[in-house]
Amino acid sequence: MNNTSVALKDVRKSYGSLQVIHGIDLTVKDGEFVVFVGPSGCGKSTLLRMIAGLEEITDGEVVIKGRDVTDLDPSERGIAMVFQSYALYPHMSVRDNLGFGLRMAHTDGAEIGARVAAASAILKIDHLLDRRPGQLSGGQRQRVAIGRAIVRKPDVFLFDEPLSNLDAELRVSMRIEIARLHRELGNTMIYVTHDQTEAMTLADKIVVLRDGNIEQTGSPREVYEDPANIFVAGFIGSPRMNFLDAEWLGDGKLRFSGATMDAAISDKSLEPGDKLTVGMRPEHLVVTEPGAGEIAAKVDFAEYLGGTRFLYCQLENGQTLVVEQREGPDFTRDERLSLTIPAFRRRYFASNGKRLR
Ligand SMILES: Nc1ncnc2c1ncn2[C@@H]1O[C@H](COP(=O)(O)OP(=O)(O)OP(=O)(O)O)[C@@H](O)[C@H]1O
Ligand SMILES: [Mg+2]
Repeated sequence: MNNTSVALKDVRKSYGSLQVIHGIDLTVKDGEFVVFVGPSGCGKSTLLRMIAGLEEITDGEVVIKGRDVTDLDPSERGIAMVFQSYALYPHMSVRDNLGFGLRMAHTDGAEIGARVAAASAILKIDHLLDRRPGQLSGGQRQRVAIGRAIVRKPDVFLFDEPLSNLDAELRVSMRIEIARLHRELGNTMIYVTHDQTEAMTLADKIVVLRDGNIEQTGSPREVYEDPANIFVAGFIGSPRMNFLDAEWLGDGKLRFSGATMDAAISDKSLEPGDKLTVGMRPEHLVVTEPGAGEIAAKVDFAEYLGGTRFLYCQLENGQTLVVEQREGPDFTRDERLSLTIPAFRRRYFASNGKRLR
């Protein structure tokens, strides 16, 4: 009918009198890689489990491939889920782990063999098929868990923090493997993580959640460059966006930390004297000639990481900000800096967190 893979319609979840998902509307396109990201407890897993059918839906509708699956069992939804805990059967070989779900569904033996072979080729685990999970590394186990999802040929893959148990280096390489898998299979994938880097690198579309609500939906570039509010601005990006308190003076001017700055805000709700926040990404701040920038700061710490450097600075009024630099002279503690930032890089937020434009 159309190219919608998964649709959520005013989906809600309550545990007793406590509502934890507050009416989510979302459309996932066929083949899209969607990432749910947000802080711990915001409802990512709950929402994913509601799509999977592992969690009852208090209100609303879940539609997969045009079918209302709200009341269907997980096995009838055309989904396969991969968890953080690999949940492999320890007494079975990798081969039997991969084929287990298909055997339970009485799939023909030759078909099981073919699908297991295909999945293990994709995941490059052929040499591990006769081992047991206990004889595998964490990354290999996670590959088997993903393989178990692949053999089921689902319409939609659901991942809940699949890389959280792996060390930092392995997370990065498995992240690329998952991206490659998506490219090869072309399936719809919905992926939960609290790691904004994982979200940025994997997603076609990021859904930023907070307290059971969607704060913003958009491509990685949209949520990074055009955040809808101060929460999204602060959550996406590492190190995070700097936020400076300011006061609106009217007439395209604002004051902060003893200085004034031009601010092209056309929002009519703003009155002179209103408090607002100026957001500046660390990589957009530029160290200028002394006195040439709008922001006077003092270096507190300088972190040299080789390819990049972070300057932790203090303003006269005690607020702090981080500057990211790719090159330039070294700075020492207490050195005074003059900083500037191109006008088009600044983001403004009202005191209630809403983006001001
Ligand atoms: N069985 C339950 N009974 C009551 N409240 C629950 C239950 N399961 C989850 N919750 C609550 O629902 C909210 C969402 O939980 P959920 O597990 O979806 O968060 P999450 O975003 O996946 O967090 P994390 O990043 O820590 O995994 C939390 O506030 C949690 O305490
Ligand atoms: Mg979770």
